[in-house]
Amino acid sequence: MDIKQKYDKYVNLYFINKMEDVVIDHAEGSTVYATDGKEYIDCFAGIAVNNAGHRNPKVIQAAKDQMDKLVHCCAYVYYSEPPAILAEKLAQITPGKLDKTFFSNSGAEAIEGALRVAKQFTGNYEIIALQCSFHGRTNATLSVTGNRKRKFKGGPFLPGIAFAPAPYCYRCPFELKRESCNLKCARYLRDVIDFQTSGSVAAFIAEPVMGEGGIIVPPEDYFKEIKKVLDEFNILLITDEVQSGFGRTGKLFAIEHYGVEPDIMTMAKGIADGFPLGAFITRDEIASSFKPGDHLSTFGGNPVSCAAAIANIDFLVDEKIPEKALEKGNRFMQNVKDKLMKKYDLIGDVRGKGLMIGVELIKDKEKTPASAEAGKVRNLCREKGLLIGVGGVLGNVLRIQPPLVIEERQLDKVIDILDDAFSKLEE
Ligand SMILES: Cc1ncc(COP(=O)(O)O)c(C=O)c1O
Repeated sequence: MDIKQKYDKYVNLYFINKMEDVVIDHAEGSTVYATDGKEYIDCFAGIAVNNAGHRNPKVIQAAKDQMDKLVHCCAYVYYSEPPAILAEKLAQITPGKLDKTFFSNSGAEAIEGALRVAKQFTGNYEIIALQCSFHGRTNATLSVTGNRKRKFKGGPFLPGIAFAPAPYCYRCPFELKRESCNLKCARYLRDVIDFQTSGSVAAFIAEPVMGEGGIIVPPEDYFKEIKKVLDEFNILLITDEVQSGFGRTGKLFAIEHYGVEPDIMTMAKGIADGFPLGAFITRDEIASSFKPGDHLSTFGGNPVSCAAAIANIDFLVDEKIPEKALEKGNRFMQNVKDKLMKKYDLIGDVRGKGLMIGVELIKDKEKTPASAEAGKVRNLCREKGLLIGVGGVLGNVLRIQPPLVIEERQLDKVIDILDDAFSKLEE
């Protein structure tokens, strides 16, 4: 049996529509190499993970050095250096007064912890999330995920969850125009509190740029408006930076684009350039509502992952990777608009921040989602040596989320490959 056959026989893939037809052997920077010798420009980074590039030499060296010393001890039983240094670093680079970190292994676990601490701090149990959101695959995180397709048959979900309209301007839930909407989606939060909850709301959770929902970028003043309402009702703001964090959007954390301070922030994916690690950070007054016995993780804060994360963050900061990602992303989006959108009616919208970019495909002027076409574009790209993602609540958004170290010449090639794919599709 070859690798694919073994995979199909022994790996549980029943929940996957179709695997990408690539057997990856190794990867470096923004390039992935398959076992058959084929090279791919990686514009998906293992679902927006390898921000500092595949096998970033500094990250790898730090992980190797740590492996020679200590691989595991449990960060909540014994002291060791890597979690201490990483927690200090996270307190320094996250906005405002966030200064106490809990380490987990994944994004979903980080969010589980964040929800729990919010409940314990406020003494309230209700949570408000956004329609079109995605926060993970555990029961609590699915409960706050605003997408039927992800939740199908996974219930019963947690009680006390309400959903506010997504700031999805291209498909505005109120069918308004951005110029004159006066941020109705944000102001509507008050209605959600008044008419969908009992008033015992612990937290509002949102992705500052929504990833799985289709790279939905909230309008500039969205979070300021949201925060006004939250402050009025003493509701905590949890920003889920699992996908948007660590430079992806052109700032270390996407909420920094919006000028508000979250009370709790969750992270994973780009935190350690591919080593498994998640975290949530909050203010000491909130963190201290956990009492002995309330929380723990065996593997969370693994020394090797933490050592990798420290080197990863140093690299991102020292090399000004977020700033560079912003420039590259802006140029790329302009190129998509100038070179592709004008040529292909299939492209309905191009949006994003930094290198978190979505290209939404439509069949007609009524914006009928072109989801089958999105899948075909992905396949055509792969054949030409480019890996991209497809997502969105309607399954019609091409996701361009490469390692942030991708070179301009590679991004130019991505435009050429997309051009070729769209023209083949039109044939
Ligand atoms: C915004 C967001 N939150 C949470 C998660 C869940 O993270 P994990 O898969 O590490 O549990 C994801 C994963 O895609 C995500 O995009």
